[in-house]
Amino acid sequence: MGAEADTSGSLFRKLPVEMKTLGFDTCGKLDDIAAEATKSKDSNQVVTKLSIAMNNCIACHEMYRFVEEAK
Ligand code: HEC
Repeated sequence: MGAEADTSGSLFRKLPVEMKTLGFDTCGKLDDIAAEATKSKDSNQVVTKLSIAMNNCIACHEMYRFVEEAK
């Protein structure tokens, strides 16, 4: 979540709210995985949380993309 601090306000205001929700949820999930990995000795727990978090990656990348047109 700390990485969000440098995002410029003018950019942040232009982003769709769904994207921000998904983005913040993903950052929160990743912070949780980091905390789990630090305290837990159960790597299955960490992998399970990671595979749930990766659904956010897929969802956002499927919805929002920059398309380059070939000339
Ligand atoms: C809220 C939407 C969103 C989520 C969630 C998201 N991404 Fe992205 N991702 C983007 C956008 C938008 C870009 C393009 C950024 C740019 O062009 O500078 C990007 C770029 C990337 C790139 C760089 C691709 C390149 O060609 O340089 C990688 C790798 C990546 N994302 C992986 C992930 C992974 C792994 C996750 C999950 C942990 C994730 N992303 C979650 C929106 C998202």
